[in-house]
Amino acid sequence: MHQKIVLEGGRKLKGEVTVSGAKNAALKLMAASLLLDDTCEIYNVPELTDVCTMTKLLKTLGADVDYNKSEQKVVINAANIDNIEAHYDFVSTMRASFIVLGSLLGRFNEAKVALPGGCSIGERRIDLHIKGLEALGAQVKIESGYVIARAKKLTGSKIYLDRPSVGATENIMLAAVLAEGATILSNAAQEPEIIDLANFINAMGGDISGAGTSEIIINGVKQEDLRPLSYTTIPDRIEAGTYIAAIVATRGKAVIRNIFPNHLSAVTSKVIEMGGKISILDPFSIEVSAGGKLGSVNIVTQPYPGFPTDLQSPFVSALAVSEGISIITENIYENRFRQLGELRRMGADVQQESNKAIIKGVRELTGAQVIATDLRAGAALIVAGLCAEGVSEVKDIHHVDRGYEKIVEKLSNLGANISRLELDETNLDVKINNIDENLL
Ligand code: EPZ
Repeated sequence: MHQKIVLEGGRKLKGEVTVSGAKNAALKLMAASLLLDDTCEIYNVPELTDVCTMTKLLKTLGADVDYNKSEQKVVINAANIDNIEAHYDFVSTMRASFIVLGSLLGRFNEAKVALPGGCSIGERRIDLHIKGLEALGAQVKIESGYVIARAKKLTGSKIYLDRPSVGATENIMLAAVLAEGATILSNAAQEPEIIDLANFINAMGGDISGAGTSEIIINGVKQEDLRPLSYTTIPDRIEAGTYIAAIVATRGKAVIRNIFPNHLSAVTSKVIEMGGKISILDPFSIEVSAGGKLGSVNIVTQPYPGFPTDLQSPFVSALAVSEGISIITENIYENRFRQLGELRRMGADVQQESNKAIIKGVRELTGAQVIATDLRAGAALIVAGLCAEGVSEVKDIHHVDRGYEKIVEKLSNLGANISRLELDETNLDVKINNIDENLL
């Protein structure tokens, strides 16, 4: 059934919120579990539809997968993999499925994975993935919508990435774990999720160094060197950054727990530049405070440690109600300003000029019915709704459920008046959790 989020803006967020495990790390750890013919336990795995999709995909490959919601733990045993094909149904709903290519090829010297097409935010090419796997000795062909990769054996190699693609870095790392000899990957992505994947593989008995820098060295090990492991996923810096944007947009003051503050340096420095305050409370918590007037900032999205593309959308919403003119330059995706039209319906003064959003701050937004076109655009509309005058409805909320665990509950705890509703067969709104009558 289709769901929507209904919210009434105008309340300053306050209190505290605990961030979940990182979606974009947990999905890759789950894919890496395919390298091991034994059991791995992964903790701090958020309850998200993307995690559910990855669980189903691993099961179709023959893995035993058990997700325990209350413990946020997934236990995977990939001893009995009997299928090396990742069907289009999975890759079309979740591009992260494509990452099983490296694990399957690395372990079985063979993989068939549906080719992801473009998506709503951009072209999202995979040429660097293929180039890297070929450099390791795989023959890769594209046939009937699938990438088919085969190798007699994989051998370590020197690989230079033309751009620091997160997915290509991960696929190459995964394929190189069991290759013969060393792989040196230059201009690699440096995101915290890459470090998490390397740490996970090393805990399994792999030999990877340099993750988090632009040169990663993967020394091949033998399958029998790999061992069962228990591992805890890093916190979700993008979820944390979205709550930061929401607190700033509502001029609130709240504590964000279970984060690594240094993963958010580019984001928190922009909040300070706007006139907000960030206090580090302990190694895993910060307080964000944004009372009073906030000014404009310019933001340029870049690979880590630059400002993350995944957070530009929620920050457009926060800047839409800050004084002055802000310019956001999007350098990663061709089409990541799709929320601007919806924000204009809420009264924002935002224009797109090629890869830039020009945001002229207005005093306030007004609630409206809007549609989420992708995960982060959906989050941006919720942030806008939280600071808008009146009631907003954000439709197609399934996009948001891919990446934000319990977003309605977490924002309610921060004092927001927000609820989730679904349409029944008669197309009438049905309450599915406590809702303030003023919202109906
Ligand atoms: C990961 O996508 C994340 N997804 C994205 O998060 C995130 O936006 C992105 O990294 C950048 O940080 C997951 O981890 C599941 P890329 P990925 O390969 O790996 C181009 C979210 O909202 N490129 O670094 O697909 C590509 O076209 C999502 O949670 C090539 O040209 O990102 C894109 O423009 C969205 N050739 C850019 O690089 C290639 O072979 C970045 O892609 C590969 C990529």
